[in-house]
Amino acid sequence: MTSMAALLALFLLAASAMSGGVQAQPLVPAVISFGDSTVDVGNNNYLPRAVFKANYAPYGQSFARHEPTGRFSDGKIVTDITADTLGFESYAPPYLSPQASGKNLLVGANFASAASSYHDDTAAMYDAITLTQQLEYYKEYQSKLAAVAGRAAARSILSGALYVVSTGTGDFLQNYYHNASLSRRYDVARYCGLLIGIFSDFADKLYKLGARRIGVTSMPPLGCLPASIRLYGEGHGGCVARLNRDAETFNRKLNATVEALKGRHADLKIAIFDIYTPLRKLADAPVEQGFANARGTCCRTGKAKTRVYLCNPTTAGTCRNASSYVFFDGVHPSEAANVFMAESMVEAGIELVT
Ligand SMILES: *[C@@H]1O[C@H](CO)[C@@H](O)[C@H](O)[C@H]1NC(C)=O
Ligand SMILES: *[C@@H]1O[C@H](CO)[C@@H](O)[C@H](O)[C@H]1NC(C)=O
Ligand SMILES: *[C@@H]1O[C@H](CO)[C@@H](O)[C@H](O)[C@H]1NC(C)=O
Repeated sequence: MTSMAALLALFLLAASAMSGGVQAQPLVPAVISFGDSTVDVGNNNYLPRAVFKANYAPYGQSFARHEPTGRFSDGKIVTDITADTLGFESYAPPYLSPQASGKNLLVGANFASAASSYHDDTAAMYDAITLTQQLEYYKEYQSKLAAVAGRAAARSILSGALYVVSTGTGDFLQNYYHNASLSRRYDVARYCGLLIGIFSDFADKLYKLGARRIGVTSMPPLGCLPASIRLYGEGHGGCVARLNRDAETFNRKLNATVEALKGRHADLKIAIFDIYTPLRKLADAPVEQGFANARGTCCRTGKAKTRVYLCNPTTAGTCRNASSYVFFDGVHPSEAANVFMAESMVEAGIELVT
């Protein structure tokens, strides 16, 4: 199915969901997210020691109210766009925020934390919420939801919800590539195996806790992120082939593991949200997709090694038109690129919500 046909199918589904009653119903009751800055919607703002936060301009400049929320982009991130497509009128709140209470919990919760990763050690190095702790918060959320919705309704929300797991970039960029003790102990293939083992275990635990629809993002083309080109590039400004090969190794193993999870749990819908292919397409041929710049960052980043990832908090300065940039900062796509990626995920999405 082409992505246009897939979009149309999803639109028809949404329309038929709406024709039933007066109130439009989203296609799934809730969206529950785990992971890193690709899906963090503000949890790190509540962690005093967290190294990575997006709580300053120009983050959020084209989001609602044009204010920073903790999202690492100029506007919407992929899960926002997915929630829009599914028919939600509000986004699941960051779990650590005061908004994560009462009826707001009915549409889900977001446990993601920038600089978190599959490997808890990576998250701990940056004072982010480890994946293990995110799962603990999720268990706590289950009881809070039962208190708000009642036990039976909570169970059906939890089994109907779409679960998104989006993490792992930090295990490479913020750990493996500059951690000699790690790279001595594991070659890339074995390191990918270690991370995938953590994912597989996490998915099994989610399943045991009631999840039945899980979407996991693939590893992005690590070598095409502007920060990677700065730190590991060969000077010609092109994508770093070695890093992209590592991402492909990870993604092959992820594919096999997702197939294995399907085999183990007949009533589990699980799919890969492939972000590698669309981002690679944008990085290789931006103009064909309506972008002018795929190598630079829209906002001015810092120069120090640890600062090339994010917009510089002290020199606010952005490009004139974020929609013409694939990347907003050193690692995170612009809203326009997120829209492009979300469109290419519709097919996997349909597999999960129907
Ligand atoms: C290297 O990685 C290990 C395992 O993730 C971690 O415990 C350690 O702190 C890291 N060391 C450095 C110097 O980053
Ligand atoms: C794994 O790869 C095969 C071959 O490309 C593909 O048909 C299948 O859909 C992939 N599985 C997942 C879970 O993406
Ligand atoms: C911004 O860039 C996008 C994509 O290149 C383009 O479609 C749009 O017209 C531009 N907007 C302005 C105000 O220049």
